[in-house]
Amino acid sequence: MPTKDKAYNKKILMVCLGNICRSPVAEGILRNLLEKNGIEDVLVDSAGTSDFHIGEAPHHESTKNAKKHGIDITQLRGRQFVYEDFEKFDSIFAMDKSNYDNILKLAKSKNDKNKVSLILNKTYPNTNTSVPDPYFGGLDGFETVFQELHKACEVIVEEIKTK
Ligand code: 4NP
Repeated sequence: MPTKDKAYNKKILMVCLGNICRSPVAEGILRNLLEKNGIEDVLVDSAGTSDFHIGEAPHHESTKNAKKHGIDITQLRGRQFVYEDFEKFDSIFAMDKSNYDNILKLAKSKNDKNKVSLILNKTYPNTNTSVPDPYFGGLDGFETVFQELHKACEVIVEEIKTK
């Protein structure tokens, strides 16, 4: 017997460039906060706009830093954003302006475009602030990424709770 798809109330996709540094952390944090709040009907996934790290585990510093905060992202694997993600997800959160532009290039309709936003506009509305890419930076970048994404995901969870 085929198993029936679980009914999700909302489906959220986190997107960065490589899907190994920022978006897997965003996925892990949001899943963790949803679980803590007893919310089971929200699907969370992540992807990268590039094909650089398909099938790879998250960056070891992202994994190490998430673990420090009690979040396990070791099982996640990189995948590339595809058009079908517009059909599957309700909200698509880009980590930076370049990711945002690359996602929109694949959009086919206004409805697709309306699903995409910069995640830090949740914390800093209308500022179009980017989550700094820690890939080429120092180790403290990974903690900054975690802190900024945690604040943004708290806002996302509060919105889910009040809607
Ligand atoms: P991410 O970071 O987009 O947060 O996963 C990057 C990971 C890999 C590369 C760039 C950014 N790269 O050029 O391989």
